[in-house]
Amino acid sequence: MSPQGEPRLLLPREEVEAAVKRLAAEIRRDYKGRCPVLIGILKGSFMFLADLVRFLDMPVEVEFVRLSSYGRGTESAGKIRVRHGLCSTVAGRDVLVVEDIVDTGLTCTYLLKYLRRQKPASLKLCALADKPSRRKVPVTIDYLGFTVPDKFIVGYGIDWDERFRYLPAIYTLEGN
Ligand code: IMP
Ligand code: MG
Repeated sequence: MSPQGEPRLLLPREEVEAAVKRLAAEIRRDYKGRCPVLIGILKGSFMFLADLVRFLDMPVEVEFVRLSSYGRGTESAGKIRVRHGLCSTVAGRDVLVVEDIVDTGLTCTYLLKYLRRQKPASLKLCALADKPSRRKVPVTIDYLGFTVPDKFIVGYGIDWDERFRYLPAIYTLEGN
């Protein structure tokens, strides 16, 4: 797919903010009295993670990983590797992975397996958006913002070819 044309508004800023606040409230309740490590998958999750941490208003640690997948165009090929990993181990920690979009599911499945090997005390997944129509491997999303249609999404940190990350809301790009 090669997305073209102008972005079309899917979720206005207010709806995105309300969803992030809702997720923060759920996470705050579930991790009460603990200090989880939030691991954002770069680059797409940077804005979501920043807002989530602001709304959480509780002690957390923040880490980022950068993953790369080799594939054509807009689909991950399933050959994923960690390009920037964690500085320290997450053994014994409560770990919450923060992803922008779960699409085929290959990226977060790879990272969850990688982290599970370090024996964290708990391991959960939080995603801003879920595109279940294209799933290749089953994924449990513990905290989900939105389910989105099978369209290419941009904005709120999410890009197409490094473009549109700056948009404050979520948009779709029409494919051809
Ligand atoms: P997966 O491995 O197919 O689940 O792909 C997940 C990654 O692909 C996400 O972290 C995004 O970076 C990227 N991705 C999937 N769908 C979209 C989209 O609609 N817009 C922008 N990036 C996407
Ligand atoms: Mg991503």
